[in-house]
Amino acid sequence: MSSVQLSKQRSPRNRTITITKDDRIRLLPKLITELPKSPLKSMIQGTIHGDYNEWVRVLPFHKVDLLFLDPPYNLDKTFNGNRFSRQSVEAYTKWLDGVLEKIKPLLKPTASIYICGDWFSSTSIFEAASKHFIVRNRITWEREKGRGAKSNWKNSSEDIWFCTMSDEYTFNVEAVKLRRKVIAPYKVDGKPKDWQESAEGNYRDTHPSNIWTDITIPFWSMPENTDHPTQKSEKLLAKIILASTNQNDFVFDPFLGSGTTSVVAKKLQRQYLGIELDQEYCLLAEKRLELADEIRTIQGFADGVFWERNTLAEQQSIFKNGNGNGSNGNNHQDSIPDLFSLIRHE
Ligand SMILES: C[S@@+](CC[C@H](N)C(=O)[O-])C[C@H]1O[C@@H](n2cnc3c(N)ncnc32)[C@H](O)[C@@H]1O
Repeated sequence: MSSVQLSKQRSPRNRTITITKDDRIRLLPKLITELPKSPLKSMIQGTIHGDYNEWVRVLPFHKVDLLFLDPPYNLDKTFNGNRFSRQSVEAYTKWLDGVLEKIKPLLKPTASIYICGDWFSSTSIFEAASKHFIVRNRITWEREKGRGAKSNWKNSSEDIWFCTMSDEYTFNVEAVKLRRKVIAPYKVDGKPKDWQESAEGNYRDTHPSNIWTDITIPFWSMPENTDHPTQKSEKLLAKIILASTNQNDFVFDPFLGSGTTSVVAKKLQRQYLGIELDQEYCLLAEKRLELADEIRTIQGFADGVFWERNTLAEQQSIFKNGNGNGSNGNNHQDSIPDLFSLIRHE
């Protein structure tokens, strides 16, 4: 992929993260590549370049607080030359069951599990997941992009199945509230009922539901964008990590791709381990982890709440006007390391 990336002409405003020759020299030694001969006693942190099948056999048991599973979906897709083909529902269910069976011993009894899929993969996910875990919910998020179909409804949604190992688990609902504009402001005794008035508008911080319409798929002008074909947004991962872990908890992603899970875990001060089959994607993950030292903000998450899509101007204005919780007065969201301190932790 890097040769493709190097030769691609991109507009000056294109912020897609790519791997240069220098990046490669600097980042390759950071990848974990050597499979231990005997099982590890303690967890390791970082990016493994390898096959999850081999590594889960040597990773220690009961260390993971959150498993984020974003496997190849049950459709035809090529990941930098590695082709995955659509199978029957039965075959994909069996494959997924095998993945869960292998990873389950690594999870703590209090762990949460999130499994991603499109509508077709979802049938298999429910069946396989309910064999191993308590299935608690199915989140459906609106996928803005996507080609229209001539003889079918355009596919504009994806699912994330939320499961836990037991009835004892972390769920920080206050950490994942969604800030919505109030359309019909209702007052009691002249005072706002459950909403806030500000110079930028009227808002209400609402409880998160299982329909997410505020997710933007990374695209060329976003600083988190890479050429990975199925990159998840940092905002999506932030919701899951903030809801289902506390600081220093361990987050594991055995299908890491471009590294979104590890990057967000790092930004939110969690521990992390990711496994990825493709070296280019591993390097992208490491480059993003490096960048996370400078840019600790997460697009769409500011002032301790998640914001509806297309509200960057309002978010910036709040900080410019000093109305955020302890604003630093800086109005350029992507370069405000101090914004991180505004994240409302559990
Ligand atoms: C759906 S993508 C994950 C995207 C990721 N969530 C992101 O935000 O970039 C699935 C990834 O799993 C990787 N993969 C497939 N089989 C694998 C295996 N056996 N071990 C590790 N990674 C694998 C693919 O190369 C691909 O990058």
